[in-house]
Amino acid sequence: MITRLLPATDENIRTAAEVIRSGGLVAFPTETVYGLGANALDSDAISKIFTAKGRPADNPLIAHVAIIEAIKLLVSELPSSAVLLMERFMPGPLTLVLPRSPLIPDALTAGGDTVAVRVPAHDVARKLIEYAGVPIAAPSANVSGSPSPTTAAHVLNDMDGKVDIILDGGACSVGVESTVLSLVGTPRLLRPGGVTLEQLRETLSEVEIDDALYGELADGARVSSPGMKYRHYAPSVPVVAVCGAPEATANYLLSKLSDDIHAGFICFNEYSDMFPSELTVSIGVCGANDDHARGLFDALRRLDALKVDIIYAQCPDERGIGLAVSNRLKKAAGFSIINVE
Ligand code: TXA
Ligand code: MG
Repeated sequence: MITRLLPATDENIRTAAEVIRSGGLVAFPTETVYGLGANALDSDAISKIFTAKGRPADNPLIAHVAIIEAIKLLVSELPSSAVLLMERFMPGPLTLVLPRSPLIPDALTAGGDTVAVRVPAHDVARKLIEYAGVPIAAPSANVSGSPSPTTAAHVLNDMDGKVDIILDGGACSVGVESTVLSLVGTPRLLRPGGVTLEQLRETLSEVEIDDALYGELADGARVSSPGMKYRHYAPSVPVVAVCGAPEATANYLLSKLSDDIHAGFICFNEYSDMFPSELTVSIGVCGANDDHARGLFDALRRLDALKVDIIYAQCPDERGIGLAVSNRLKKAAGFSIINVE
């Protein structure tokens, strides 16, 4: 298949919408990360997503719609908690898991009885869905297991020859994926993301945190969000997440700077002078968690391309979107985490 990389002009979005309608694959920008889209009501089109990504068949996809009202067609129940969250955070980086409507094909939900729905805030994403006239199923547009793409170049790197069109809408403004919240039973955070836990707790009286967020799961453990059980967001080289006070973690990274190992470093801007510039990517000043979110996946991909043997990364604090950044980094590290005093 020839992949066309097109700037996201109105005309090209219309062309891409036609591809979606005829069962093809289109990668497109959202405010979080680039998505790999297909008609969410067409099982054959959905199966092409799983093939292109090499995604395990038991991992369900998010249905994206252009307007909040369209969610009602995809779910069989809309609790008042959902309505509150939709009013406050949609369009935006929040995905809600709700009981599915009969409209939804099994291919989308991996046979489960819930569906994940989201209204992206990005203009290109919303126009694409609107012009296609169908909800769009879209995982992140990376090869399964590797860091999510935040630029069209990242998508091309992973998906050249596997998708019909890549719409280039520039770099994503959030940089980590949407927050996934289950509203089946007590609200439960399945994946931290662009909408923060603090924000959710301002709106809902109770939000539980799914066990899968804390570490590696026991073999055979049942997971609420199948995506959480895989090593994920990871480049081809090992990653070590180094957690603790910034000064201390910077010093730990420094201790790994030796001639014997060809290590790459991800650090806060304040410390970048301590490391060789050609092996180091800085992701923003300490505490600038929004910048870390925008920079993390690109940093992992850049160091991977340098063919370093191992990547050491300073882990941000877990306030706000820092919880999502830290979660992605720890998953990239396969939970190989160093805590320094
Ligand atoms: O920001 C995002 O959400 C991006 C952009 C493209 O919208 N999409 C994205 O999709 O990150 P994906 O497939 O890479 O991650 C979706 C996550 C997975 O962990 C999956 O297991 C979970 O959501 N998920 C999807 N449907 C679910 C369901 N019915 N119940 C529980 N978890 C679900
Ligand atoms: Mg993904």
